Amino acid sequence: MNTLGEDARNHGTAVGLLGDSITIRGGKPLIGRIELKGAKNLVTKAMVASLLGETPSVLKDVPNISDVRIVRGLLEVHGVNVVEGVEEGELIFDPSNVESAHFADIDAHAGSSRIPILFCGPLLHRLGEAFIPDLGGCRIGDRPIDYHLDVLRNFGAVVEKLPSGIRMSAPNGLKGAKLELPYPSVGATEQVLLTAVRAEGITELKGAAIEPEIMDLINILQKMGAVITVDTDRVIRIEGVDRLEGYTHRALFDRNEAASWAAAALATEGDIFVGGARQGELLTFLNVYRKVGGQFEIHDDGIRFWHPGTPLNPVFIETDVHPGFMTDWQQPLVVALTKASGVSIVHETVYEQRFGFVDALVDMGATIQVHKDCLGGQACRFGQRNFNHSAVIVGPTRLHGADIEVPDLRGGFSHLIAALSAEGTSTVSNVGIIARGYENFITKLRLLGADFSTEE
Ligand code: EPZ
Repeated sequence: MNTLGEDARNHGTAVGLLGDSITIRGGKPLIGRIELKGAKNLVTKAMVASLLGETPSVLKDVPNISDVRIVRGLLEVHGVNVVEGVEEGELIFDPSNVESAHFADIDAHAGSSRIPILFCGPLLHRLGEAFIPDLGGCRIGDRPIDYHLDVLRNFGAVVEKLPSGIRMSAPNGLKGAKLELPYPSVGATEQVLLTAVRAEGITELKGAAIEPEIMDLINILQKMGAVITVDTDRVIRIEGVDRLEGYTHRALFDRNEAASWAAAALATEGDIFVGGARQGELLTFLNVYRKVGGQFEIHDDGIRFWHPGTPLNPVFIETDVHPGFMTDWQQPLVVALTKASGVSIVHETVYEQRFGFVDALVDMGATIQVHKDCLGGQACRFGQRNFNHSAVIVGPTRLHGADIEVPDLRGGFSHLIAALSAEGTSTVSNVGIIARGYENFITKLRLLGADFSTEE
């Protein structure tokens, strides 16, 4: 994170911790039921979409996580009135008085989030200008914004780099364009959608990402009055319209959180019912879960995940864009793979540096080596570029307690699982980062019977 300490402190209070560490007495299976809310990676974008409406929008199942609070703060500094609705997790956004925000206010609210880049299209439509401070987000690689800037320039935005960040303007309005992404980036696809819906004329995007969260954003934009066609082969066509209304929408469930708790059930030899999880968006994950030996049962109101009670199998995983195996599922599952009998390989092809979290697992007794080569599958974009992006995990190993520090959101959750499944006591610090994307995870751990204490 950019502002790691500060972030962690803010998030710490948000999760109900006075300090920012948890002492976990491991070795106890997690058993019970937890409920999911909307997906972090959809909700934050749906909140930005409310800027495009002429009337208020209502979003349901919004999780109480710090990324949501960051986006709420950013909307508020731009004049959007945000209030809680009657239902728990309901937010109402009134964009009638959208106004330019002061650079310093945007910077202060954005903190370590990458979301401000997605404000650009909607703000250019509404105000003719937008500003983005230096962007943060989890430290899992370079995470550049070149695709976003290219897309915005193609719509007619003028991009100026200043010492304090990037200023954009649209002196002649924004016009639809023919675009092709070099890689199916989730954020850049959302950038195109949020900009093209109000641009003049037709936009055609080739090489689009088609993650379920993007499809749900398209559902929202259609409710607002947008005309969007999703063709085969990653082509999305958008016909710009003059006016969009507010929306009412219940957010898609958080499939990354679902996969995280499923991995926790496996690593701790537990049994967790994940309320709100659905099969369709988890198809690829479920296939791998089954190959590892994990058991699952699909219900109308969720999915039950549990350990088979027999040794787990090693697997080969290659992360990819949807419909492939998501990069965010990899870290929690690696903890379970330390307990599988044999050699597992994980080839990470989405982010160049997403194995920082394994150092702590090795300190806890895991046998994991990271490699610069593309192991096991196709050569990927990182093969010739000196990045440690493949991991070999040799199991089974017994993890023992250690003092570990959370590096990023998903890596942090995997550290929690490692500590919960280890023999002995671990202190996990910097856990506030986990509250960026996991709602009430402390309460959920309690519900599942974890043995831990928080710093007082
Ligand atoms: C989204 O990040 C998610 N974040 C990530 O979730 C998720 O891992 C990722 O998509 C992939 O599914 C949010 O939705 C807030 P990308 P995003 O643009 O949009 C490169 C989590 O823990 N790239 O699809 O930033 C980039 O470096 C996380 O919830 C460029 O080169 O991801 C990466 O290698 C973290 N230039 C690849 O594309 C650009 O301008 C995919 O990134 C943009 C991206």
